[in-house]
Amino acid sequence: MKNPLLMSLMLACGLVSSGFALAGSPANPTPPPAEMQQMMKMYTPELRQKVMALSPETKATLQKLHAGHTRRAKETTLRQVMQEILSEYQSVAAALATDNAEQAAEAARRLANHRIPKGGLLPYFPLDKINDRDLAVLPAMNAVVEGSALKLADAADAGDLRAAASHMSDIMTGCVACHQKFRGTPGISANLMTPLPR
Ligand code: HEC
Repeated sequence: MKNPLLMSLMLACGLVSSGFALAGSPANPTPPPAEMQQMMKMYTPELRQKVMALSPETKATLQKLHAGHTRRAKETTLRQVMQEILSEYQSVAAALATDNAEQAAEAARRLANHRIPKGGLLPYFPLDKINDRDLAVLPAMNAVVEGSALKLADAADAGDLRAAASHMSDIMTGCVACHQKFRGTPGISANLMTPLPR
């Protein structure tokens, strides 16, 4: 494993997560940070309860992840933001294929600083994933996707498109990892008798 980021992602997703200590207890909830409290006003009582039960560490981590992004959406959902992120990724690919270092760097930075959807990330995750153990993988996924995008941008700025291109697969590894954990099969139909084959 030559890439420490990918290593940490794998550890976070699999081996380590099973042994995570659950610091928070529903009986003794710590108030969430200010921005999260604002977001929580939009949440259903069920989701709010799940978020309140998170440990102070998880709350702080989520707050840090949100705060690391300067752009906020008003009405845009996570799925729409994801489509934006995909567009940026495709823009980077087009730029690399056409020796356009400036386009590559700018699109990669926009990808890394994607907008935070209405209500943050949590409302769009399955409710049963709103717990300390499952959410503990988020920083590693963030580091792989956004950290690699920023490295790609720096390499493009330095005129090293070969190095820039090498980060594309790291970014996509992070997309795939998060989807496997937090997203179901896209576009599943309620009008089919059997689940779609995977
Ligand atoms: C933090 C976890 C996470 C990361 C990282 C992530 N995604 Fe997603 N993505 C999701 C979730 C959750 C959904 C489902 C959202 C919904 O349907 O409400 C989703 C949905 C999508 C969709 C819409 C398809 C659909 O209908 O479900 C696209 C396109 C997408 N992601 C692209 C990407 C790309 C490209 C990357 C990497 C550059 C990426 N995502 C990284 C969590 C993530």
